Amino acid sequence: MASTYQLPHPPPLTAYPSLASRCRVRMASAAPLGVSHDTGVTVPTSDSVGQNDLLIVGPGVLGRIVADKWQQEHPGCKIFGQTATTDHHSELTKIGIIPSLKGSRGCQKVPYVIFCAPPYRTDDYPGDLRVAASNWSGEGSFLFTSSTAVYDCNDNGLCSEDSPCVPIGRSPRTDVLLEAENVVLEAGGSDQGPHIFWLSKGSVDARPDLIINLIHYEDAASLAIAIMKRRLRSRVFLGCDDQPLSRQQIMDRVNRSGKFDAKFQGFTGTDGPLGKRMNNSKTRAEIGWQPKNPSFTEFLGLSN
Ligand SMILES: NC(=O)c1ccc[n+]([C@@H]2O[C@H](COP(=O)([O-])OP(=O)(O)OC[C@H]3O[C@@H](n4cnc5c(N)ncnc54)[C@H](OP(=O)(O)O)[C@@H]3O)[C@@H](O)[C@H]2O)c1
Repeated sequence: MASTYQLPHPPPLTAYPSLASRCRVRMASAAPLGVSHDTGVTVPTSDSVGQNDLLIVGPGVLGRIVADKWQQEHPGCKIFGQTATTDHHSELTKIGIIPSLKGSRGCQKVPYVIFCAPPYRTDDYPGDLRVAASNWSGEGSFLFTSSTAVYDCNDNGLCSEDSPCVPIGRSPRTDVLLEAENVVLEAGGSDQGPHIFWLSKGSVDARPDLIINLIHYEDAASLAIAIMKRRLRSRVFLGCDDQPLSRQQIMDRVNRSGKFDAKFQGFTGTDGPLGKRMNNSKTRAEIGWQPKNPSFTEFLGLSN
């Protein structure tokens, strides 16, 4: 569920008359995905993370307004703020934001992350986005405030969400923004798979009892990397979550999860081949790998 949102304009006391941020949003509330980057975790706390805790990367003008509104809507939640310098840390502490420096290390991921730091004070803006994505648990949402600069229009013409973007390669400024947007969009990654296809159809003329073997994209990537690191030759390995499900079981879980607006009606087929139930315990043992998403059921937030 990727959507593009427009942020409300901040009040006119800000240094600029109106903030026209183009916000690319990855709504990951549909699934507790677990973005599997392992580096750059920065939330400076040993307390347990609350379900509404928020990390603001760049708690400047916009970020502080967000913090204030978030605190009102979620009393008692923790709000972390990550900055480029320590210059404003005491101000942040006074308004209830727990400050830390970009790049400092901790051990917790948070369910909500907003990245609203501007691009001009870093050499690697997309890299900063990647680090922020690694701090996101995948449960709530991860929002990035970009800029209307990315729209390919410089003649006072009308523009909307769907207007074309500046092609990559034309301007370093827009390249950086578009690359950063892509980091965010890729960090969601939850909206692919057979269940999404079947859901879009409503009902499907296929037999319900065919068994499917699933693996989360992130886990497929981590397994591929783990195998490559071993530098093995002429070997075959298998990636799957070891929890095979029938088409019907998959869609029952999708309906039960409450995470999708649409409801799947059913499979209507009665014939055709059946599938197979895969198990990859040998691969797991030899490579020393386990999936971060142990089953599709848990991925949807249901108990197994
Ligand atoms: N202002 C505009 O006219 C305008 C227009 C279009 C889009 N936008 C976008 O809207 C968003 C919010 O803008 P704003 O005016 O609220 O920003 P701002 O007030 O200038 O916020 C700056 C904040 O970001 C921190 N920061 C800067 N670079 C950082 C980095 N690389 N990593 C982590 N923290 C960093 C700063 O830390 P320190 O405390 O250390 O300084 C400060 O907390 C930004 O994404 C901006 O690009 C703004």
